[in-house]
Amino acid sequence: MDASKSYQFLAKKPYQPPSWASHLTHIPSHVYSLGHLPTPIHKWNLPNLPKDTEVWLKRDDLSGMQLSGNKVRKLEFLLADAVAQGADCIVTIGGIQSNHCRATAVAAKYLNLDSYLILRTSKALVDKDPGLTGNLLVERLVGAHIDLVSKEEYAKVGSVVLTNILKEKLLREGRKPYVIPVGGSNSLGTWGYIEAIREIEQQVQHATFAQRFDDIVVACGSGGTVAGLSIGSWLSSLKAKVNAFCVCDDPEYFYEYAQVLLDGLNAKIRSSDIVSIQSAKGLGYAMNTSEELKFVKEIAETTGVILDPVYSGKAAYGMMKDMGENPKKWEGRKILFIHTGGLLGLFDKSDDVQASLVGGSRWRKMDINHSVPRKDGTGKMF
Ligand SMILES: Cc1ncc(COP(=O)(O)O)c(C=O)c1O
Repeated sequence: MDASKSYQFLAKKPYQPPSWASHLTHIPSHVYSLGHLPTPIHKWNLPNLPKDTEVWLKRDDLSGMQLSGNKVRKLEFLLADAVAQGADCIVTIGGIQSNHCRATAVAAKYLNLDSYLILRTSKALVDKDPGLTGNLLVERLVGAHIDLVSKEEYAKVGSVVLTNILKEKLLREGRKPYVIPVGGSNSLGTWGYIEAIREIEQQVQHATFAQRFDDIVVACGSGGTVAGLSIGSWLSSLKAKVNAFCVCDDPEYFYEYAQVLLDGLNAKIRSSDIVSIQSAKGLGYAMNTSEELKFVKEIAETTGVILDPVYSGKAAYGMMKDMGENPKKWEGRKILFIHTGGLLGLFDKSDDVQASLVGGSRWRKMDINHSVPRKDGTGKMF
């Protein structure tokens, strides 16, 4: 983060869109500085790339706010709107290990707002204490209120009605709730990744590392990140092709949803003209094959970068699979992969990770020659 920006942390300021986005509608009036931005870009030495292909990594997993990943960029705009509307609490919704819900709960607390989270879980667990694993630990540390719903109830009632039910209840109790939709993916939240494109554009202009990127690759879970990146890349000087790998639903759903977000900005463009969406869902949302988990482990071991198995892990796995099947499509291209965070979700997967890595981990009881005399301190630790 550059020094001038660190002084603005938690400040609310009037928002000026990039000149190339100034014709869009729903331009936010204000923005909070919540993220540690710009996030770094560095070369990612992935094994087995097609000939002359380079992959670079945009570290949005390092965006600050307790590992909030891509969510902080949307929240900078959404929470500015909530405060402008006089809200005293935030209502939002997601899966039981939702990174978005956790990021919202943390960022809201910084702005002195309470959070009310509706979390989707299995029928068997809906009336049990959800525990303290991964994102839940952070949510509960910051005092978020949690309402559990079963997957069946969620599918039947839908996220919009569920958040409205909670909003009405809070209004009756005299609260002033502000509702953020699933993943923070509405037209206002889309500005987070339009801004990210401005950031990448400036990094490319000033960096010695890369003069251009041909492709941007990113995970897609609720559509807002992809919508912002694709309209931003299209309108700015970047002109990189955006390739999204969706981890739930299917590409058709996300072309349509991105279209809704783009129409909300009056972008006058078809989503399918500016983004290519492939499925990386595999077994299903937040479910992993042992190959995917082994891939996450292999990438950590060879490059030091930890991918979360639910989003960036699946997207990177999908990208590498596509590179293996269609090397000509990727040969010689400079790719910017956006690491969108989600590390806390990994803690919920530790059993699966362990099961898929049996034999691969290196540990042993240290072999000590007890006749060697102690050289430091008294040794009276216990
Ligand atoms: C870690 C992580 N990466 C990527 C995504 C996908 O972003 P979006 O919801 O904007 O499609 C999400 C949320 O859904 C996420 O939590």
